[in-house]
Amino acid sequence: LHVAVLMGGLSAEREVSLTSGEQCAQALERQGVRVSRVDAGRDLANVLSGLIKPDVVLNCLHGAWGEDGCVQGVLETLRIPYTHSGVLASALAMDKNRSKAVLKAAGVKVPGGGLYDRHEVAARHVIEPPYVVKPNAEGSSVGVYLVTEGANRPVAEVGEPGWGYGEQVMVEPYIAGKELAVAVIGYADGPRALTVTDITPTKGFYDYEAKYAPGGSVHVLPAVLPPAVFEAALRQAEAAHVAMGCRGVSRSDFRYDDVKDDLVLLEVNTQPGMTPTSLAPEQAAHTGMSYEDLVRWMVEDASC
Ligand code: DAL
Ligand code: MG
Repeated sequence: LHVAVLMGGLSAEREVSLTSGEQCAQALERQGVRVSRVDAGRDLANVLSGLIKPDVVLNCLHGAWGEDGCVQGVLETLRIPYTHSGVLASALAMDKNRSKAVLKAAGVKVPGGGLYDRHEVAARHVIEPPYVVKPNAEGSSVGVYLVTEGANRPVAEVGEPGWGYGEQVMVEPYIAGKELAVAVIGYADGPRALTVTDITPTKGFYDYEAKYAPGGSVHVLPAVLPPAVFEAALRQAEAAHVAMGCRGVSRSDFRYDDVKDDLVLLEVNTQPGMTPTSLAPEQAAHTGMSYEDLVRWMVEDASC
């Protein structure tokens, strides 16, 4: 078995992907699998079909081009089996606003708010603070801002000429309480949610630093929650995996307002991080599936 591990890539999450990819490559090598590490660039099709000729692609890319259906389309065209979601689910999940419509229709509760012109968001409070401003199609909290109550200044950064994350930005009411995550493994007989993790950032909110700096956040799993809420998070993550048409592993991120007893799904990630601080491998380990087992399963589940 020869596996090409796609990593790096062209997005703002390049560094995260290099870490995910290297961890996965090493996990396969520990199991005696032949691995080629591929830093995915615009010549990807030529590199794979002309040079490497792998049996399977393990896609460890995150963000634009690697998680949004583009690379998936290249792999479909080349007829190389690949891990994680296909073209449609990838493209849909990368568009947070369109995802919300699909999730809502499936009975999953999603945040309010919507897309606004970035200059408008930079100039005035388009909704009542506290609220969150984020790119419609990025990951790892890149370009995410929390505007708190009493702030007299909106987010100037999104109006600047160098803003690189789209003319429209997502603005959502901030949901107080807990940050939760649920990884789902899409077995042939139906998706299975692993467990619920409660994430507490060491300082501020669960931003890029809290996600990847060692000690940047504290993970409690299984999360300590009212049993009905725990169960609801598992079932909503599974419903989201199905509604979005995901394959392989996905991870749904939630907010839970424990005062209002309100559970809201923020987004579905089709290429969940596989770094040492990432949530999905940690949840797998909790259920008895080692990092090696998880990566092996992904490769065996690959298709095109
Ligand atoms: N976007 C990062 C990699 C995640 O969802 O884990
Ligand atoms: Mg994300």
